[in-house]
Amino acid sequence: MEKRIAICPGSFDPITKGHLDIIRRASGLFDEVIVLILVNYAKSNTAFTPAERVELARRVTKDMPNVRVDFFGGLLADYASHVGACTLIKGLRAVSDFEYEFQMALTNKKLCPTLETMFMTTDIKYMYLSSSIVREVATMGGDISEFVCPEIIDDIRRRLGPKTEENK
Ligand code: PNS
Repeated sequence: MEKRIAICPGSFDPITKGHLDIIRRASGLFDEVIVLILVNYAKSNTAFTPAERVELARRVTKDMPNVRVDFFGGLLADYASHVGACTLIKGLRAVSDFEYEFQMALTNKKLCPTLETMFMTTDIKYMYLSSSIVREVATMGGDISEFVCPEIIDDIRRRLGPKTEENK
């Protein structure tokens, strides 16, 4: 039988515990899940380069054998057709996410009619969480241990945190 491949697409700047919860749940539903780091043209000033975002995402997904991480600089629909993915998985935190996600889902369907978008409701404990919250709290020297996995905390602190001897 054909392998069922799903893609979890996003900027992942950086990957949060909320993202990881969706990826883990998706990995139980599909044969393979690709965490795909893409360019969001509305977010030009990223904190981490694509290669860094891939590295951080790989580190926190290494315990999930059917999950791999990739970067693509083009259209999500083109990548999905190329790898034969059947589904895009998006996490929804609140109604406010829906309008933007709905627009993207319809655009991707137009570009690749066989590609489905599935929405997963975020775990209630991550409803407030986003990469931009992580960047803001880290930049101001706050504790991000509730927001991201321990393996990547130091990288985020070093990149964004106040410049102390420890963060150099
Ligand atoms: O985490 P984000 O920034 O909300 O994710 C948005 C992302 C990266 C998935 C979206 O911008 C995207 O798909 N970019 C790739 C270019 C593309 O395919 N655009 C058309 C679909 S809207």
